[in-house]
Amino acid sequence: MSTPTAPPGPKHLLPSLYGYFRQPLAYYQKLLARHGQPFSVPFPLGGRMAVTGCPLHIGRIFKGGPGLYRSVDASAGMFYGEQSLLSLDGEAHARLRRALMAPVLRQPAQAAGLMRDAALRLGGERAPGTVFDMLDLGRSITLDVILRTVFGMIDALEQREFSAAIHGLQGTIGFMAVFVKGLRRDWGEWSPWGRFVRARARCYALIEARMAASRAAGESAEANVLAYWVGLRDEAGQPVLSDAQIRDNLLTLLFAGHDSTAVALAWCVYWTHREPGVLLALRDELRDYAETLDIGLLERTPYLDAVCWEALRMHPVAPGVARRLNRTLDLGERRVPEGDVVMACIDLVSHDPALYADPGCFRPERFLARDYSPTELIPFGGGERRCPGAALAFMELRVVLATLVAAFRWTLAEPGPVKPAWSHGIRRPATGVRMAVDGHRSQKSP
Ligand code: HEM
Repeated sequence: MSTPTAPPGPKHLLPSLYGYFRQPLAYYQKLLARHGQPFSVPFPLGGRMAVTGCPLHIGRIFKGGPGLYRSVDASAGMFYGEQSLLSLDGEAHARLRRALMAPVLRQPAQAAGLMRDAALRLGGERAPGTVFDMLDLGRSITLDVILRTVFGMIDALEQREFSAAIHGLQGTIGFMAVFVKGLRRDWGEWSPWGRFVRARARCYALIEARMAASRAAGESAEANVLAYWVGLRDEAGQPVLSDAQIRDNLLTLLFAGHDSTAVALAWCVYWTHREPGVLLALRDELRDYAETLDIGLLERTPYLDAVCWEALRMHPVAPGVARRLNRTLDLGERRVPEGDVVMACIDLVSHDPALYADPGCFRPERFLARDYSPTELIPFGGGERRCPGAALAFMELRVVLATLVAAFRWTLAEPGPVKPAWSHGIRRPATGVRMAVDGHRSQKSP
């Protein structure tokens, strides 16, 4: 598939995968030092992948162009459904994306109150004197938020059922099935793919039941994302989205939005409690908020925002964003052949010492000292596929972190530094970030 003009880099797949999964950032930094950028590596699903962390190249990748890209994995629909945003390309993708941008995704401030309430309720369940796993707590909070904002689901029993189905589904997605297409066969419920298909069917059934309940209740379009999508009509009064489009994309939002935000939140809490100066500065900025928990007081909180950006920079949830080329693409002096994949490498650009001095140090102040452009700071990707949940996710990080810091007294219960580790296709803090509960501040109700 690849041609001799592919940018330089290692020839063989297995050593390259081994190097990458052992130490992703260090391995790519080594290749960058040896070959310059873009360098290229063999890609498990065919061809090679040109990798770059140069903001100029990233700008070119995000700019795209008509018909320039197609899905990296043509069979993505097997995971998320044929109608998922993640399975579509070109005009079909752009049209669906426009339709899917529900009000709460564009204006997430309207969900800030329920984010704060979820943080208070679920954070408050951790008893003084105990140690808990922040990633688990983050997952409970982000799932609660997504079930309410996206599905409008407030019934605790229904939430528990949904949560079990989603965790069941996530537990079935193995690394091998993502990269080895031959393993995607249903050989019954004991085979990995068979388990995945059955777990997904359980999620579909719950989503479809929720769609029927929303229709029966005549929920208003502003109520939640599902109600907005169900109620969308074209000029002739016909539904804009089919049931399959709604179902597949509800599952996509759950998949793309819940774990990623929980991981970012766990890193925010980790660094805030690891660096005493950061916690003090944050508490100082949040003094008034801690008194009243009035969401309006979080409108201008530069230090809180800087902490969240710095956590996303230090530990990008996705290592990079990749697109497969329909035509050759020039990145600087090098040419990436048609059919190969290009990756805007979030890891590399986030740790570029020319942009971020001492990139291994957690320094929120850097975001107060200067602005970073949309090609220098890219935890949510960019261009036509930039994360549509970015505004919601960032609002959630800010509100939940502020509320946890304001309402609870916790200390880090980790003996050493916490490292990122791969699990179920996503990088998480290896230990989950253990926190000890010292106490709750006088519990204030907003
Ligand atoms: C801190 C949390 C999050 C991070 C770091 C994150 C990051 C990303 C990244 C890097 C991409 C790929 C962008 C690209 O290809 O240029 C992406 C795509 C996506 N994200 Fe997020 N995301 C987060 C939260 C969310 C949330 C809360 C939602 C939904 C409510 C969401 C929904 C999606 C969807 C649907 C896509 C696919 C977009 C497309 O292909 O057009 N994400 N996200």
